Amino acid sequence: MKIAVAGTGYVGLVTGVCLASKGHNVTCVDVDEQKVAMMKKGESPIYEPGLPELMRDNMDRLVFSTDYVSSYKDADVIFIGVGTPEKTDGSANLSYVYQVAKQIAVSAEKDCVVVVKSTVPIGTNDKIESYIHDKQKHSVKIYVASNPEFLSQGTAVRDTLHASRIVIGVNEEEPGKVLKEVYQDFDAPKLVVGRRSAEMIKYASNDFLALKISYVNEIANLCETVGADVEEVTMGMGYDARIGDRFLNAGIGYGGSCFPKDTKALSWLASFNDNEIRTIKAAIEVNDSQKFKLIKKAKKYYDEFLFLNVAVLGCTFKPGTDDLREAPSLVNIPLLLEDGANVRIWDPVGEENFKKKISNKNIQYFSTIEETLEGADLCLIFTEWEQVVNFDVRKYEELMKTPIVLDGRNCYPLSAFEGTKTTYSSIGRRTINDR
Ligand code: UDX
Repeated sequence: MKIAVAGTGYVGLVTGVCLASKGHNVTCVDVDEQKVAMMKKGESPIYEPGLPELMRDNMDRLVFSTDYVSSYKDADVIFIGVGTPEKTDGSANLSYVYQVAKQIAVSAEKDCVVVVKSTVPIGTNDKIESYIHDKQKHSVKIYVASNPEFLSQGTAVRDTLHASRIVIGVNEEEPGKVLKEVYQDFDAPKLVVGRRSAEMIKYASNDFLALKISYVNEIANLCETVGADVEEVTMGMGYDARIGDRFLNAGIGYGGSCFPKDTKALSWLASFNDNEIRTIKAAIEVNDSQKFKLIKKAKKYYDEFLFLNVAVLGCTFKPGTDDLREAPSLVNIPLLLEDGANVRIWDPVGEENFKKKISNKNIQYFSTIEETLEGADLCLIFTEWEQVVNFDVRKYEELMKTPIVLDGRNCYPLSAFEGTKTTYSSIGRRTINDR
């Protein structure tokens, strides 16, 4: 099939490359000429394990272009995978989606299915359909289908090729048939549902996961107070198949491009319709305060941070990505700097993006964990990179001036610190060598 994909971010590019790997001819369209030039050379503009290899293997079926007219005019299927960033009121900004819809309306010269992959508020597909039909230049049939994505950054290729489910939201039979054909070689359950239900599935799924994390974080906080261990507790909970053992890791809250945005968007949508979702509002509130958990713990050891050397391990919102969107590091490091601390950062891939967001003369970057810890008064772990998880914990006391490690991602078993001099405090567990 001849497929066009609008937008080459995580959703668009991964979708395009995976579709090409299944034999479709795919044109990936983006307004950014620099990005397109890079992709034409077989280079991926985003950091995503496995993507560059899959891209290079399928270059004969992949075209990258800034020219939307020639890309859309004879495509059988056009995926919209552009961003829907959060507006200041929490609602989703749909301007990029509508921009593409307009381009499709004036370019399509053949019957086609427009597939909305971007996360959009419920009812948006209907609006996009009317919008395209209003602005349509040629007399062809343009269907609109919703096909939300469930990929996670860092495992996006696997999550697309071996999806948990492929949701096809359509109001007519024809676009459903076309999308089933597009995905015929994908080994995943295919669910054909109404368009509004498909839009809702995406929000309801993401927000449920966010809720699960906020719930376990509150349980973790209580565990600390009452002397229980959250890891033992979640292990016990996870055996119940109705609860499941995934997404029960306590920590300093969720970040990334989806959970924070999608919880706020659904909450906004619900309030707008006089139908408040209190559980989601609570999940957002819990997450907002959970992000500051390490700073609050640090205050127990130091009244102020003035002139303290603070080592920060990891600044991305999770390992396996260079993405910093809504990462706890972004709200914590400025607090440390405001209080006069010297911040020493290590992150294997997030450094460049962090520099773009925060620049301060009191920040130093290091390429090894050892150098970062040298002479530090405090170490904060924001991301569970495997280098941190596999780090020899004895080195904390060897290298740091005062070995206090506050771990926001529960990277180590408590037993690892027994018999050391390091004060180790994590989330929802007892503190080892407290002082
Ligand atoms: C998420 C969804 O998983 C994916 O299905 C959706 O399409 C997009 O949003 P992503 O944002 O890439 O994917 O990352 P994910 O692995 O879900 O983690 C999100 C955040 O939750 C991270 O900050 C992570 O550290 C945190 N998290 C995750 C926890 O704090 N505890 C957990 O148990 C799991």
